[in-house]
Amino acid sequence: MSRVAYVNGVYVPLRSASVSIMDRGFQFADSIYEVWAIRGGRLFDTEAHMTRLQRSLAELRIMQPMNQAALMAVIRETIRRNRVTDGIGYVQISRGAANRDHVFPAVSTKPTLIVTAKNLDRAAIARRAAAGIKVTSAPETRWARRDIKSVNLLPNVLARQEAKEKGAFEAWFVDEDGLVTEGTSSNAWIVDANGVLRTRALSHDILHGVTRGAILNVARKRQMKIEERPFTIEEAQAAREAFITAASNAATAVVEIDGVRIGDGRPGPVTEALRAAYLGA
Ligand code: PDD
Repeated sequence: MSRVAYVNGVYVPLRSASVSIMDRGFQFADSIYEVWAIRGGRLFDTEAHMTRLQRSLAELRIMQPMNQAALMAVIRETIRRNRVTDGIGYVQISRGAANRDHVFPAVSTKPTLIVTAKNLDRAAIARRAAAGIKVTSAPETRWARRDIKSVNLLPNVLARQEAKEKGAFEAWFVDEDGLVTEGTSSNAWIVDANGVLRTRALSHDILHGVTRGAILNVARKRQMKIEERPFTIEEAQAAREAFITAASNAATAVVEIDGVRIGDGRPGPVTEALRAAYLGA
């Protein structure tokens, strides 16, 4: 089946879908995006992703290309046309195409809106969750507004590639104080040596992960001991469990960090319980 993309008002075959070379997303990474998980034909955390998308737009003063209800209808239609049952829906909105100039273009410039959707390999995701993943650390080299989901992802791309070349699935950024901020495309968690569930508190330092919020809710309902407090790589290596969260990788265990095994090297009970509760929710 050939895939379909929505580009500025029309559904087109993905292979011929394109935007202008003058698009500010291409020229300056002047663009935001959002990713929804689809599991068993159902969109997860629909409202929270939409709220974050609106926030990213507002923070960068990019105009909304259409209202939320209309955008949601386009996302659902793109998912339908691509027959996605287990995968992701992707939205990107840039400040539009204009003559290259760092200053914002005329207010009449229309934002560029693209929507795509694809199935992911469900079996591969399940295998990854069952085996756990390896993580490497990388110095935090990103800009100071990581709470905005912008396509300005070059440090993430470089760190992820380096992780892959070292045989790992994800890289965790470490800030100047030696504390983990988050992964290149996921939030970072541990169950520390005292059994406390820990993840960094929300600030400009990290993306306000939607899955992070949902997992915290699950943990609160189960009355787990929780601290929104950052940790070092050494603390993570000494932790009982470690895991990542992201729309595309819900609570996936980390079993090795910089070559050091976590716990017994298998996904731990807290990670598994949170994952099961979240996916079943
Ligand atoms: N990534 N931190 C970063 C830097 C991310 O890029 C992501 C998501 C997350 C997790 O956020 P959420 O739980 O809302 O997906 C944290 C998406 C999936 C991506 O870039 O593909």
